[in-house]
Amino acid sequence: MWQARTIIHNGQAIPFAEARIHPLALGVAFGIAVFEGLRAYRHPGGGFSVFRLEEHLDRLAQGMKVLRLADPPSKDTLRQALLEVIRLNEPDEDAYLRLQVQIEGLGMMATTGPVGWIAAALPRERSAKFATGLAAQVSSWTRLPDNAMPPRVKASANYHASRLATLQAKADGYDSAILLTQRGKVSEAAAACLFLVRDGVLATPSRGSDILESITRDTVMVLAREAGIPVEEREVDRTELYVADEIFLCGTGQELVAVTSVDRLPVGDGAPGAVTRRLQAAYEGVVRGTSDAHSEWRTPV
Ligand SMILES: Cc1ncc(COP(=O)(O)O)c(C=O)c1O
Repeated sequence: MWQARTIIHNGQAIPFAEARIHPLALGVAFGIAVFEGLRAYRHPGGGFSVFRLEEHLDRLAQGMKVLRLADPPSKDTLRQALLEVIRLNEPDEDAYLRLQVQIEGLGMMATTGPVGWIAAALPRERSAKFATGLAAQVSSWTRLPDNAMPPRVKASANYHASRLATLQAKADGYDSAILLTQRGKVSEAAAACLFLVRDGVLATPSRGSDILESITRDTVMVLAREAGIPVEEREVDRTELYVADEIFLCGTGQELVAVTSVDRLPVGDGAPGAVTRRLQAAYEGVVRGTSDAHSEWRTPV
């Protein structure tokens, strides 16, 4: 498999292993950083495209605004750097991409800069669970609330909470954690949004359920509606996870992956369901360009 050789740090392409930041920079000391995880997909006919690059740049800009970062990098700068870092690394398979913006200066709580950024391309294989599905645990850790650590902002520090839930799930013998909001409603998984199918309707926790406003979630809703599958964004109860016909998680990293049990109760018949497999196939078509649909979502590298 190819390896990451080069990273772009503040506009400079440097060897991947040589990127540096001071340990007392606010990006490290307080985790003051926002990022995007994206994917570049290799097309069967050759070449790569980045999936929904503009939407990722928009969300990153929103995060930088909420964090009040001083002189943040522009979308143009980040777009060019991301495309360049893919070319420089010459991947021969799909690449996982990261744009990250952090405070690189030392300072106090209200310090807003100087701000630095990176663009990176990394190898990342599809999980073996993609085909077979995941065993999920409803976590005893709750999802971050908007008025404390806003989940809408893809802030690095938010992943402390996701990590605790994941560590607990793994320690208890599960693959993944599903987190509830402080009100006890289903929010999302540690690094993915959640859909369930009940009576032929696809449902997903609404934007008010302390979710990250996932770009894959939006893609799934568009593809489902185009396939004639009714979609609801609404509050989801915990026990709906136990009686759902199908459940799947979605995100740039995990793509669409079935959940085949929750708290050891089988979901449906305990195998990835028909709606999940249909949407997985539709997703694969648009990300890889084997379907002509939604060419506006694919930025050629
Ligand atoms: C907490 C969380 N929720 C949801 C998602 C899915 O978001 P997206 O589809 O934009 O990748 C991610 C992605 O990394 C995530 O970290």
